[in-house]
Amino acid sequence: MPSGERSEDPKLQAEAARKAFEQEFERFARFRGEENLGDDDNRGGEPAPAETGNLSNAEAAARQLGDLRSRHTGKKSALAAVKKMIGQVEPAERSAFGQFVQQIELEIVQKLDESEASLKASAAELRTERERIDVTLPGRRPRRGHLHPITILRQKIEDIFVSLGYAIEDDREIETDFYNFTALNIPENHPARDPLDTFYTTEGFALRSQTSTVQIHAMERRSAPLKMIAPGRVFRRDTPDATHNPMFYQVEGLCVDRGITMAHLKGTLTEFVHRLVGPETRTRFRPSYFPFTEPSAEVDYSCFKCNGTGCRICKQSGWIELGGSGMVHPNVLRAVEIDPEEFSGFAFGFGIDRMSALMYKLDDIRLLFENDVRFLEQFN
Ligand code: DAH
Repeated sequence: MPSGERSEDPKLQAEAARKAFEQEFERFARFRGEENLGDDDNRGGEPAPAETGNLSNAEAAARQLGDLRSRHTGKKSALAAVKKMIGQVEPAERSAFGQFVQQIELEIVQKLDESEASLKASAAELRTERERIDVTLPGRRPRRGHLHPITILRQKIEDIFVSLGYAIEDDREIETDFYNFTALNIPENHPARDPLDTFYTTEGFALRSQTSTVQIHAMERRSAPLKMIAPGRVFRRDTPDATHNPMFYQVEGLCVDRGITMAHLKGTLTEFVHRLVGPETRTRFRPSYFPFTEPSAEVDYSCFKCNGTGCRICKQSGWIELGGSGMVHPNVLRAVEIDPEEFSGFAFGFGIDRMSALMYKLDDIRLLFENDVRFLEQFN
Protein backbone atom coordinates (compact mmCIF):
# COMPACT_ATOMS: atom_id res chain seq x y z
CA MET A 1 0.00 0.00 0.00
CA PRO A 2 1.53 3.34 -1.07
CA SER A 3 2.41 5.39 1.96
CA GLY A 4 0.82 8.54 0.52
CA GLU A 5 -2.57 6.88 0.43
CA ARG A 6 -2.30 5.77 4.01
CA SER A 7 -1.23 9.12 5.29
CA GLU A 8 -4.25 10.67 3.76
CA ASP A 9 -6.67 8.45 5.73
CA PRO A 10 -7.23 10.29 9.04
CA LYS A 11 -8.51 7.22 10.81
CA LEU A 12 -5.49 5.19 9.86
CA GLN A 13 -3.27 8.01 11.00
CA ALA A 14 -5.06 8.18 14.33
CA GLU A 15 -4.59 4.42 14.72
CA ALA A 16 -0.92 4.74 13.82
CA ALA A 17 -0.43 7.45 16.43
CA ARG A 18 -2.06 5.24 19.06
CA LYS A 19 0.03 2.25 18.06
CA ALA A 20 3.28 4.22 18.10
CA PHE A 21 2.49 5.44 21.59
CA GLU A 22 1.50 2.03 22.85
CA GLN A 23 4.64 0.40 21.55
CA GLU A 24 6.88 2.92 23.21
CA PHE A 25 4.84 3.01 26.36
CA GLU A 26 4.87 -0.75 26.65
CA ARG A 27 8.62 -0.84 26.36
CA PHE A 28 8.89 1.86 28.99
CA ALA A 29 6.48 0.12 31.38
CA ARG A 30 8.18 -3.25 31.01
CA PHE A 31 11.53 -1.66 31.68
CA ARG A 32 10.13 0.01 34.80
CA GLY A 33 8.60 -3.21 36.03
CA GLU A 34 11.91 -5.11 35.79
CA GLU A 35 13.56 -2.54 37.96
CA ASN A 36 11.11 -3.17 40.72
CA LEU A 37 11.05 0.44 41.53
CA GLY A 38 8.58 0.50 44.34
CA ASP A 39 10.01 -2.57 46.02
CA ASP A 40 11.29 -1.86 49.47
CA ASP A 41 14.88 -3.01 49.62
CA ASN A 42 15.06 -1.89 53.19
CA ARG A 43 15.26 -5.03 55.27
CA GLY A 44 16.27 -4.87 58.91
CA GLY A 45 16.24 -1.13 59.48
CA GLU A 46 19.59 -0.19 57.93
CA PRO A 47 19.44 1.74 54.65
CA ALA A 48 20.16 -0.64 51.78
CA PRO A 49 23.00 0.55 49.56
CA ALA A 50 20.80 0.08 46.48
CA GLU A 51 18.28 2.57 47.81
CA THR A 52 19.93 5.77 46.63
CA GLY A 53 20.43 4.06 43.25
CA ASN A 54 16.71 3.33 43.11
CA LEU A 55 15.90 6.91 43.85
CA SER A 56 17.99 8.23 40.97
CA ASN A 57 16.48 5.52 38.75
CA ALA A 58 13.04 6.79 39.69
CA GLU A 59 14.06 10.33 38.85
CA ALA A 60 15.48 9.26 35.46
CA ALA A 61 12.28 7.33 34.72
CA ALA A 62 10.20 10.43 35.50
CA ARG A 63 12.25 12.38 32.96
CA GLN A 64 11.78 9.68 30.33
CA LEU A 65 8.09 9.69 30.99
CA GLY A 66 8.04 13.47 30.48
CA ASP A 67 9.76 12.99 27.11
CA LEU A 68 7.23 10.35 26.17
CA ARG A 69 4.41 12.73 27.01
CA SER A 70 5.71 15.61 24.91
CA ARG A 71 6.53 13.35 21.97
CA HIS A 72 3.06 11.77 21.89
CA THR A 73 0.82 14.59 23.09
CA GLY A 74 2.83 17.75 22.32
CA LYS A 75 2.27 20.29 19.54
CA LYS A 76 4.44 18.43 17.08
CA SER A 77 3.10 15.00 17.92
CA ALA A 78 1.30 12.67 15.53
CA LEU A 79 -1.74 13.01 17.76
CA ALA A 80 -1.73 16.81 17.36
CA ALA A 81 -1.57 16.36 13.59
CA VAL A 82 -4.53 13.99 13.69
CA LYS A 83 -6.52 16.45 15.80
CA LYS A 84 -5.96 19.12 13.15
CA MET A 85 -7.55 16.78 10.61
CA ILE A 86 -10.88 16.68 12.43
CA GLY A 87 -12.03 19.86 10.69
CA GLN A 88 -11.24 18.43 7.27
CA VAL A 89 -13.22 15.24 7.67
CA GLU A 90 -16.57 14.95 5.88
CA PRO A 91 -19.23 16.57 8.09
CA ALA A 92 -21.13 13.32 8.31
CA GLU A 93 -18.19 11.49 9.79
CA ARG A 94 -16.68 14.40 11.64
CA SER A 95 -18.37 13.82 14.97
CA ALA A 96 -17.58 10.08 15.04
CA PHE A 97 -13.98 10.75 14.05
CA GLY A 98 -13.67 13.50 16.62
CA GLN A 99 -14.88 11.15 19.31
CA PHE A 100 -12.50 8.46 18.08
CA VAL A 101 -9.52 10.81 18.31
CA GLN A 102 -10.65 12.09 21.68
CA GLN A 103 -10.85 8.51 22.91
CA ILE A 104 -7.29 7.83 21.77
CA GLU A 105 -6.04 10.99 23.42
CA LEU A 106 -7.85 10.10 26.62
CA GLU A 107 -6.26 6.65 26.70
CA ILE A 108 -2.78 8.02 26.08
CA VAL A 109 -3.05 10.75 28.68
CA GLN A 110 -4.55 8.37 31.21
CA LYS A 111 -1.73 5.88 30.84
CA LEU A 112 0.86 8.62 31.13
CA ASP A 113 -0.84 10.10 34.19
CA GLU A 114 -1.12 6.77 35.95
CA SER A 115 2.51 5.99 35.31
CA GLU A 116 3.58 9.40 36.43
CA ALA A 117 1.59 9.18 39.63
CA SER A 118 3.02 5.81 40.58
CA LEU A 119 6.56 6.93 39.76
CA LYS A 120 6.15 10.02 41.88
CA ALA A 121 4.77 7.99 44.75
CA SER A 122 7.60 5.51 44.78
CA ALA A 123 10.21 8.28 44.42
CA ALA A 124 8.68 10.07 47.39
CA GLU A 125 8.65 6.85 49.37
CA LEU A 126 12.28 6.20 48.58
CA ARG A 127 13.19 9.75 49.49
CA THR A 128 11.51 9.59 52.92
CA GLU A 129 13.03 6.18 53.49
CA ARG A 130 16.45 7.61 52.77
CA GLU A 131 15.95 10.60 55.01
CA ARG A 132 14.21 8.70 57.76
CA ILE A 133 15.51 9.53 61.20
CA ASP A 134 13.52 9.16 64.37
CA VAL A 135 14.48 12.15 66.49
CA THR A 136 12.47 10.82 69.41
CA LEU A 137 14.69 7.74 69.82
CA PRO A 138 17.04 7.99 72.81
CA GLY A 139 20.71 8.49 71.80
CA ARG A 140 23.23 5.69 72.04
CA ARG A 141 25.44 6.23 75.04
CA PRO A 142 29.08 5.39 74.24
CA ARG A 143 30.41 2.74 76.59
CA ARG A 144 32.59 4.29 79.24
CA GLY A 145 35.95 2.73 79.89
CA HIS A 146 37.53 2.48 83.31
CA LEU A 147 40.91 2.02 84.90
CA HIS A 148 42.69 -1.33 85.03
CA PRO A 149 42.83 -2.81 88.57
CA ILE A 150 46.61 -2.43 88.61
CA THR A 151 46.28 1.24 87.68
CA ILE A 152 43.68 1.75 90.42
CA LEU A 153 46.04 0.34 93.03
CA ARG A 154 49.08 2.15 91.62
CA GLN A 155 47.26 5.48 91.88
CA LYS A 156 46.26 4.76 95.49
CA ILE A 157 49.90 4.01 96.35
CA GLU A 158 51.06 7.15 94.56
CA ASP A 159 48.53 9.31 96.42
CA ILE A 160 49.72 8.02 99.79
CA PHE A 161 53.40 8.61 99.10
CA VAL A 162 52.86 11.98 97.45
CA SER A 163 51.04 13.07 100.62
CA LEU A 164 54.13 11.96 102.59
CA GLY A 165 56.33 14.23 100.46
CA TYR A 166 57.64 11.68 97.95
CA ALA A 167 58.21 12.50 94.29
CA ILE A 168 57.11 10.05 91.60
CA GLU A 169 59.87 8.92 89.25
CA ASP A 170 59.09 7.32 85.91
CA ASP A 171 62.10 5.76 84.27
CA ARG A 172 63.26 3.54 81.42
CA GLU A 173 62.43 -0.15 81.07
CA ILE A 174 65.48 -0.94 78.93
CA GLU A 175 68.63 -0.82 80.98
CA THR A 176 72.31 -1.49 81.01
CA ASP A 177 73.85 -4.14 83.21
CA PHE A 178 75.23 -1.34 85.40
CA TYR A 179 71.82 0.00 86.49
CA ASN A 180 70.08 -3.36 86.78
CA PHE A 181 72.90 -5.03 88.72
CA THR A 182 76.34 -3.53 89.28
CA ALA A 183 75.36 -0.17 90.77
CA LEU A 184 72.95 -2.04 93.04
CA ASN A 185 75.86 -3.93 94.58
CA ILE A 186 75.27 -7.06 92.49
CA PRO A 187 78.58 -7.66 90.70
CA GLU A 188 79.03 -10.14 87.88
CA ASN A 189 78.80 -13.78 89.05
CA HIS A 190 76.91 -12.73 92.20
CA PRO A 191 74.28 -15.39 93.01
CA ALA A 192 71.59 -12.68 93.42
CA ARG A 193 71.68 -12.20 89.63
CA ASP A 194 70.07 -15.59 89.15
CA PRO A 195 66.51 -14.89 90.42
CA LEU A 196 66.75 -11.49 88.73
CA ASP A 197 67.59 -13.00 85.34
CA THR A 198 65.87 -11.14 82.55
CA PHE A 199 65.55 -10.71 78.79
CA TYR A 200 68.22 -9.02 76.69
CA THR A 201 68.06 -7.11 73.45
CA THR A 202 70.37 -8.13 70.61
CA GLU A 203 72.53 -5.12 71.52
CA GLY A 204 72.97 -6.53 75.04
CA PHE A 205 70.60 -4.21 76.88
CA ALA A 206 68.54 -5.71 79.71
CA LEU A 207 64.81 -5.35 80.26
CA ARG A 208 64.96 -4.21 83.88
CA SER A 209 64.13 -6.99 86.32
CA GLN A 210 63.50 -4.63 89.25
CA THR A 211 62.47 -1.01 89.71
CA SER A 212 65.52 -0.61 92.01
CA THR A 213 67.27 0.67 88.86
CA VAL A 214 65.38 3.94 89.38
CA GLN A 215 67.12 4.44 92.74
CA ILE A 216 70.37 4.83 90.84
CA HIS A 217 68.97 7.12 88.12
CA ALA A 218 67.18 9.32 90.66
CA MET A 219 70.24 9.73 92.89
CA GLU A 220 72.44 10.45 89.87
CA ARG A 221 70.02 13.12 88.72
CA ARG A 222 69.09 14.67 92.03
CA SER A 223 71.68 13.45 94.55
CA ALA A 224 70.78 13.63 98.28
CA PRO A 225 68.59 14.38 100.12
CA LEU A 226 65.70 12.85 98.19
CA LYS A 227 62.43 10.98 98.64
CA MET A 228 60.92 9.21 95.70
CA ILE A 229 58.81 6.26 94.61
CA ALA A 230 59.01 4.62 91.19
CA PRO A 231 56.11 2.48 90.03
CA GLY A 232 56.68 0.56 86.81
CA ARG A 233 56.95 -2.57 84.77
CA VAL A 234 59.67 -5.16 85.28
CA PHE A 235 60.61 -8.36 83.43
CA ARG A 236 61.92 -11.76 84.49
CA ARG A 237 62.59 -15.08 82.86
CA ASP A 238 59.74 -16.75 84.68
CA THR A 239 57.35 -19.29 83.20
CA PRO A 240 53.81 -17.96 83.64
CA ASP A 241 51.67 -19.72 86.23
CA ALA A 242 48.96 -18.69 88.70
CA THR A 243 51.43 -16.57 90.70
CA HIS A 244 54.09 -15.63 88.11
CA ASN A 245 54.26 -13.57 84.97
CA PRO A 246 57.38 -12.76 82.94
CA MET A 247 56.20 -9.12 83.10
CA PHE A 248 54.76 -7.51 86.21
CA TYR A 249 54.58 -4.27 88.18
CA GLN A 250 56.58 -3.07 91.13
CA VAL A 251 56.79 0.11 93.12
CA GLU A 252 60.18 1.15 94.44
CA GLY A 253 60.71 3.58 97.28
CA LEU A 254 63.81 5.47 98.38
CA CYS A 255 64.48 8.01 101.11
CA VAL A 256 67.99 9.41 101.57
CA ASP A 257 68.86 12.13 104.02
CA ARG A 258 71.08 12.87 106.98
CA GLY A 259 70.31 10.68 109.98
CA ILE A 260 67.83 8.28 108.38
CA THR A 261 67.42 5.09 110.45
CA MET A 262 65.49 1.85 110.44
CA ALA A 263 62.89 3.62 112.60
CA HIS A 264 62.03 5.88 109.66
CA LEU A 265 61.61 2.85 107.43
CA LYS A 266 59.31 1.14 109.90
CA GLY A 267 57.31 4.29 110.59
CA THR A 268 56.86 5.06 106.89
CA LEU A 269 55.74 1.58 105.88
CA THR A 270 53.44 1.28 108.87
CA GLU A 271 51.80 4.58 107.94
CA PHE A 272 51.54 3.37 104.36
CA VAL A 273 49.65 0.15 105.22
CA HIS A 274 47.41 2.05 107.64
CA ARG A 275 46.33 4.29 104.82
CA LEU A 276 46.15 1.62 102.12
CA VAL A 277 44.64 -1.31 104.01
CA GLY A 278 43.14 0.22 107.16
CA PRO A 279 44.20 1.88 110.44
CA GLU A 280 44.08 -1.37 112.44
CA THR A 281 46.70 -3.02 110.17
CA ARG A 282 49.91 -4.15 111.88
CA THR A 283 53.34 -4.62 110.28
CA ARG A 284 56.10 -7.13 110.88
CA PHE A 285 59.72 -6.98 109.72
CA ARG A 286 61.62 -10.22 109.16
CA PRO A 287 65.39 -10.29 108.67
CA SER A 288 66.29 -10.92 105.05
CA TYR A 289 68.97 -10.35 102.48
CA PHE A 290 69.19 -8.01 99.48
CA PRO A 291 72.53 -6.98 97.99
CA PHE A 292 71.57 -3.28 97.90
CA THR A 293 70.42 -2.99 101.54
CA GLU A 294 72.07 -3.72 104.89
CA PRO A 295 70.32 -4.63 107.09
CA SER A 296 67.47 -5.99 104.99
CA ALA A 297 63.95 -6.98 105.96
CA GLU A 298 60.88 -8.58 104.48
CA VAL A 299 57.78 -6.57 105.36
CA ASP A 300 54.48 -8.26 106.18
CA TYR A 301 51.15 -6.71 107.18
CA SER A 302 48.31 -8.28 109.11
CA CYS A 303 45.72 -9.86 106.80
CA PHE A 304 43.05 -7.39 105.66
CA LYS A 305 40.48 -10.19 105.58
CA CYS A 306 40.86 -11.91 108.95
CA ASN A 307 42.92 -9.24 110.73
CA GLY A 308 45.53 -11.80 111.73
CA THR A 309 43.46 -14.76 112.89
CA GLY A 310 44.14 -16.81 109.75
CA CYS A 311 42.07 -17.36 106.62
CA ARG A 312 42.28 -18.58 103.06
CA ILE A 313 43.72 -15.30 101.76
CA CYS A 314 46.71 -15.25 104.17
CA LYS A 315 47.02 -19.06 103.97
CA GLN A 316 46.15 -19.31 107.69
CA SER A 317 49.28 -17.34 108.67
CA GLY A 318 47.49 -14.10 109.57
CA TRP A 319 50.16 -12.15 107.60
CA ILE A 320 50.50 -11.01 104.01
CA GLU A 321 53.86 -10.31 102.44
CA LEU A 322 54.27 -6.73 101.23
CA GLY A 323 57.82 -6.84 99.84
CA GLY A 324 61.47 -6.22 100.55
CA SER A 325 63.11 -3.33 102.33
CA GLY A 326 66.22 -2.24 104.17
CA MET A 327 68.83 0.43 104.79
CA VAL A 328 70.57 1.49 101.59
CA HIS A 329 73.95 -0.28 101.31
CA PRO A 330 76.92 2.13 101.48
CA ASN A 331 78.20 0.68 98.19
CA VAL A 332 75.01 1.85 96.44
CA LEU A 333 75.49 5.38 97.77
CA ARG A 334 79.13 5.31 96.65
CA ALA A 335 78.12 4.18 93.17
CA VAL A 336 76.27 7.49 92.75
CA GLU A 337 78.88 9.55 94.57
CA ILE A 338 76.90 10.17 97.74
CA ASP A 339 79.01 10.05 100.88
CA PRO A 340 77.71 7.24 103.15
CA GLU A 341 79.37 8.97 106.11
CA GLU A 342 77.10 11.97 105.60
CA PHE A 343 73.91 10.38 104.24
CA SER A 344 71.92 7.26 104.99
CA GLY A 345 68.68 5.99 103.61
CA PHE A 346 66.08 3.30 103.42
CA ALA A 347 64.55 1.61 100.40
CA PHE A 348 61.70 -0.77 99.69
CA GLY A 349 60.13 -2.57 96.77
CA PHE A 350 56.67 -4.19 96.43
CA GLY A 351 54.91 -6.12 93.72
CA ILE A 352 51.73 -4.30 92.67
CA ASP A 353 50.20 -7.25 90.79
CA ARG A 354 50.34 -9.60 93.76
CA MET A 355 48.84 -6.96 95.99
CA SER A 356 45.96 -6.34 93.62
CA ALA A 357 45.46 -10.08 93.07
CA LEU A 358 45.03 -10.45 96.84
CA MET A 359 42.81 -7.41 97.25
CA TYR A 360 40.56 -8.45 94.38
CA LYS A 361 40.73 -12.14 95.43
CA LEU A 362 42.07 -13.34 92.09
CA ASP A 363 43.23 -16.92 92.15
CA ASP A 364 45.27 -16.47 88.98
CA ILE A 365 47.51 -13.45 88.47
CA ARG A 366 47.55 -13.97 84.69
CA LEU A 367 43.95 -12.73 84.53
CA LEU A 368 45.35 -9.23 84.98
CA PHE A 369 47.04 -9.30 81.59
CA GLU A 370 44.67 -11.35 79.48
CA ASN A 371 42.62 -8.24 78.66
CA ASP A 372 39.34 -10.12 78.81
CA VAL A 373 36.71 -7.39 79.18
CA ARG A 374 34.36 -9.74 81.03
CA PHE A 375 37.00 -9.92 83.74
CA LEU A 376 38.09 -6.28 83.65
CA GLU A 377 34.53 -4.90 83.70
CA GLN A 378 34.14 -6.11 87.28
CA PHE A 379 36.46 -3.37 88.52
CA ASN A 380 34.35 -0.60 87.07
N1 DAH B 1 64.28 -5.20 94.06
C1 DAH B 1 63.80 -6.23 94.95
C2 DAH B 1 63.11 -7.32 94.11
O1 DAH B 1 62.79 -7.09 92.99
C3 DAH B 1 62.77 -5.65 95.93
C4 DAH B 1 63.42 -4.76 96.91
C5 DAH B 1 63.91 -5.27 98.11
C6 DAH B 1 63.59 -3.43 96.67
C7 DAH B 1 64.49 -4.47 99.03
C8 DAH B 1 64.17 -2.59 97.61
C9 DAH B 1 64.65 -3.14 98.80
O2 DAH B 1 64.36 -1.28 97.42
O3 DAH B 1 65.23 -2.33 99.71
O4 DAH B 1 62.92 -8.39 94.61
